[in-house]
Amino acid sequence: MTQDPRPEPQKSPAKTILRALAGERQPVPPIWMMRQAGRYLPEYRATRAQAGDFLSLCYTPDLAAEVTLQPIRRYGFDAAILFADILLIPQALGMDLWFVTGEGPRLSTITTPEELAALKPAEAIHETLSPVYETVRILSRELPRETTLIGFAGAPWTVATYMIAGRGTRDQGPAHALKQADRATFQGIIDRVTEATILYLSAQIEAGAEVVKLFDSWAGSLHGQDFDDFAVAPARRIIAALKERHPHVPVIAFPREAGDRYIGFAKATGADCVALDNSVSAEWAARNVQVDGCVQGNLAPGHMVTGGPALVDATRAIVRAFAGGPHIFNLGHGITPDANPENVALMIQTVREGA
Ligand code: CP3
Repeated sequence: MTQDPRPEPQKSPAKTILRALAGERQPVPPIWMMRQAGRYLPEYRATRAQAGDFLSLCYTPDLAAEVTLQPIRRYGFDAAILFADILLIPQALGMDLWFVTGEGPRLSTITTPEELAALKPAEAIHETLSPVYETVRILSRELPRETTLIGFAGAPWTVATYMIAGRGTRDQGPAHALKQADRATFQGIIDRVTEATILYLSAQIEAGAEVVKLFDSWAGSLHGQDFDDFAVAPARRIIAALKERHPHVPVIAFPREAGDRYIGFAKATGADCVALDNSVSAEWAARNVQVDGCVQGNLAPGHMVTGGPALVDATRAIVRAFAGGPHIFNLGHGITPDANPENVALMIQTVREGA
């Protein structure tokens, strides 16, 4: 630590996550965790019960801010992620959305040109989503100074898979089928979600989000030209539009299970950081992805259930593999409800004690 009393120069923002996103290698990587506000935490379950259902929690700013803050209070993560859901966009475009306990999301479906025409215009989303912006404003007031606030949205392909199937699917079959059968309608859905996402993320940034992340959870089922057209192109369009309005706000892209398509993804899309799932090895990703800039990831979420020396070893191995460049420690996917909160503390302690 420096004893120099002068203020930090602009080029080196104090917040550790922003420093990593600016390309700085740090001796201890900053850390946060996908789904860090979630059912593995008893305090989350209590607030969720108070809200009633999951969507009420998303749309009640005080409670959404409260659950966002809970993992920060308990663990002191370096970043907080806005509490919301990627499926609020289809709802804000006029689709029905509800959650079936124990099963997951359900939506009205969209597979015809008529149903596409019935979607609201992108600009209409703010009517539904303004409580989310209020959550962001509360958080930017209440978060500790050193904690970075991350906003997010689903990437168009992933959001479209839920809009077309009306639910989560193992292989995204209905979306692939529509892509083959009626390319124009499929492209129309992608375009509408892309436009809505630009407006949504801009509004989050204007409300106080310091970083935004695009979740493309099903990018791994796109191959060849489809990956270029529906994972790379929409991300590039969203990031270009955001950078035009907010050039200094970093973007994290998460094309989950992209495999060798992680290579060059940051350059192709303009993302400042690529988030890695746990199917790629950290050594491979250090050589092939981190060469282009910051990476985030990639501990297997199962370690949060099983813990023990295996958790410590796997955590240290990731920290070591990425030690040569900018890195944000995270899981490879969201923490699961059966995780043990003590294992999260052990992971953080292992990262911060140094590998
Ligand atoms: O990471 C965070 O803590 C921020 C909040 C957040 C949620 N969902 C809260 C949530 C974020 C970033 C998401 C993203 C999201 N939502 C994705 C992309 C990331 C991923 O996990 O691949 C997807 C595909 C969704 C859609 C979604 N939302 C599904 C499939 C489900 C049901 C599965 C489940 O875990 O129950 C949700 C519900 C959901 N979103 C919960 C949370 C905390 C659980 C709801 C509850 O409390 O009952």
